[in-house]
Amino acid sequence: METTTQAPITTIAEVGRHDGHAVTIRGWLYNKRESGKLIFPIFRDGTGVIQGVVPKNQVTPEVFESLKSLTDESSVIVTGKIRADKRAPGGYEMDVIDVKVLQRVPEDDPFPIAKKEHGIDFLMENRHLWVRTPRQTAILRVRAEIIRAARNFFDERGFTLTDPPILTPAACEGTSTLFEVDYFDEQAFLTQSGQLYIEAMAMALGKVYSFGPTFRAEKSKTRRHLTEFWMVEPEVAYAELDDIMQLAEEFISHLVQSAVTNRKADLETIGRDVTKLANIKPPFPRITYDEAVKMLLEGHAKGQVEAKFEYGGDFGSPDETYISSQFDKPVMVHRYPAKVKAFYMEPDPQRPDLALCVDVLAPEGYGEIIGGSQRIGDYELLLKRIREHDLPEAAFKWYLDLRKFGGVPHSGFGMGIERAVAWVCGLEHVRETIPFARTLTRIYP
Ligand code: 4AD
Ligand code: MG
Repeated sequence: METTTQAPITTIAEVGRHDGHAVTIRGWLYNKRESGKLIFPIFRDGTGVIQGVVPKNQVTPEVFESLKSLTDESSVIVTGKIRADKRAPGGYEMDVIDVKVLQRVPEDDPFPIAKKEHGIDFLMENRHLWVRTPRQTAILRVRAEIIRAARNFFDERGFTLTDPPILTPAACEGTSTLFEVDYFDEQAFLTQSGQLYIEAMAMALGKVYSFGPTFRAEKSKTRRHLTEFWMVEPEVAYAELDDIMQLAEEFISHLVQSAVTNRKADLETIGRDVTKLANIKPPFPRITYDEAVKMLLEGHAKGQVEAKFEYGGDFGSPDETYISSQFDKPVMVHRYPAKVKAFYMEPDPQRPDLALCVDVLAPEGYGEIIGGSQRIGDYELLLKRIREHDLPEAAFKWYLDLRKFGGVPHSGFGMGIERAVAWVCGLEHVRETIPFARTLTRIYP
């Protein structure tokens, strides 16, 4: 008989390499079924799940008893012989030989996440445990794939990764959503976007990108807003609006196709209809703000849009949902009125009341996933905008310098990872796309 000590340690994802041989897996008891003299424990180890088979007459009484009474999510090191089985979820089963229980979950205080339905508040309160369940691990793997694909996309195109500061003296995206921190008796803020800093890096390195956490004191309780989220931001010297629109459509297509190719099984676990993602390839439809408004007014006339849209305003979530529902690919809406957008955007020379900017709205009602623009090139105009927006001039001196020492046209965009993951996975809410969501009402666990 094979003994425990001879079996190599492996992961559930890798058991296929050991068909017909004994291996050791280190993980947790996911759950189990029993029928008389037979136990079917299901083990998980973070890479997958595998069903064990434990007939009473083929293991020691100790092994049988410890598995029989074992509670869900107890930690175990289990040794057994791997056997291919077409009906098994991962294609293999394990004939258990030996088991060592590291920590037994108390019988009278069981793992709180059961198979039954729980309310979202309960699940979020127990997020540290909820993340162990199959759907959540699948989402987190898709997130990791999207981040990996994003970095690959830029790395392969000659962009240099640069890390902007998180503690900053001034606002990037308007003062209303700043988190203030006490910086040795000086006022400082958590960054809303790395953009202003990577503009400086683009003047040094040409094509750059950043990827890091960003913070907004969002008072909105929507399915799209977090107070802490991760943004990937490319910035390109000598690029104009059209250049970054093309970059954005290639970027999004690459992310989606990478997830579909490399995380197919996870998307299936989540229940995503991947046929809707298959055609996410360039070119994406491009419409102007004016055309989008026309679409909203027609929608209103047909009774499909509730409120009549007022020309000149920014789109709200329901407006974005309607516009994006008219397309089966992401739609790029460009040239919004300058006054509803950020201070740093270059005006359209044809119509200076419009900004050379773009929002990319994801289909199926997901709304904005990318915001970007060409940046103001002229020193005097930028200074004027900083004053109009009541921004502290002294804190922006260095940013103005970029227009004094060899200014060039340049453009970039930012994509929120969580919004992209929510869309690719087809989720109701962004809170499931990040390990520990931070929202208006939650900072625990
Ligand atoms: O459109 P935003 O505000 O653009 C910027 O921050 C620019 N400085 C980016 C740039 O040009 N480099 O935000 C960019 C993206 C949004 O399209 C959205 O995907 C995400 O960041 N985002 C949020 N995601 C989750 N929760 C929030 N509260 C978000 N706010 C923005
Ligand atoms: Mg935006």
